[in-house]
Amino acid sequence: MTSTARELDGKRALVTGGSRGLGAAIAQRLIDEGATVLAAARSATPDTPAGAKFVTADLRTPEGVRALADTALEQLGGVDILVDNAGAARVFGEGSGTIPDEEWRDALDINFLAAVRLDAALLPQMRERGSGVIVHISSAVTLDPPGQFLHYAAAKGALSTYSRGLAIEQAPHGVRVHAISPGNVASPGADVARRDLAASFGVDPSTVESKAPLGRGGVPGDVAELVGFLVSDRASWITGRDFIIDGGEFPRG
Ligand SMILES: NC(=O)c1ccc[n+]([C@@H]2O[C@H](COP(=O)([O-])OP(=O)(O)OC[C@H]3O[C@@H](n4cnc5c(N)ncnc54)[C@H](OP(=O)(O)O)[C@@H]3O)[C@@H](O)[C@H]2O)c1
Repeated sequence: MTSTARELDGKRALVTGGSRGLGAAIAQRLIDEGATVLAAARSATPDTPAGAKFVTADLRTPEGVRALADTALEQLGGVDILVDNAGAARVFGEGSGTIPDEEWRDALDINFLAAVRLDAALLPQMRERGSGVIVHISSAVTLDPPGQFLHYAAAKGALSTYSRGLAIEQAPHGVRVHAISPGNVASPGADVARRDLAASFGVDPSTVESKAPLGRGGVPGDVAELVGFLVSDRASWITGRDFIIDGGEFPRG
């Protein structure tokens, strides 16, 4: 039997939020290309790829992030590809003025600071090797941010800005950094958020579904495909960009 070389053979990847939704599809895409993948979340689900190693992590605190970084280095021996995908959004139907301070902090912790902290913990070994790729899953909602989850949109905006700066800073060390900003993609978390948003408007959930000109909402595999390309050597001259993947839906910034 002959085996064909795959483009991520020998690569070690960590995917946060790899238990379901976009993260599970991304983890599976990297596995399909030959990478050894560690998927992290607070709990595994039936959608967590069987081919990934799963590790429990709560990324809302510096300690939780540090523990995950240590586990990843111990279990993988190093991290070549880091996908900061974990994120969460709670809808506040009455608008931004009703979002409690604690929720703003929580949104910043999971949607922004978790990535900053994990990057900081794993960058030194990438720089030592002179290679590595980091992908930040941001959001196209930054282009048209609704008051009902402005804390989430603002945290993702911070993530996109940080991502660009980190890319420029790390480029001389051989580390590429990308942001991806998805539009409306079907996933367990997004489906709940859209249902809550519709309820806050008092409308049927179908009215807040994707209006993408391409005629359908996204599926996690759409985003995973882009990640697969960006972490590969085919993208070796790309860094520092924020890729909107939304079927053409969102207004340009
Ligand atoms: N789907 C969309 O339309 C869309 C659009 C734009 C951006 N995004 C972004 O894409 C990413 C994935 O979202 P998704 O739609 O796939 O949502 P999802 O179905 O809710 O998945 C979120 C993942 O993050 C993990 N996570 C959440 N809080 C965590 C914590 N405190 N510690 C560790 N892991 C945590 C979840 O696992 P546990 O809850 O078990 O921890 C899960 O694995 C997020 O960053 C989201 O903001 C999604």
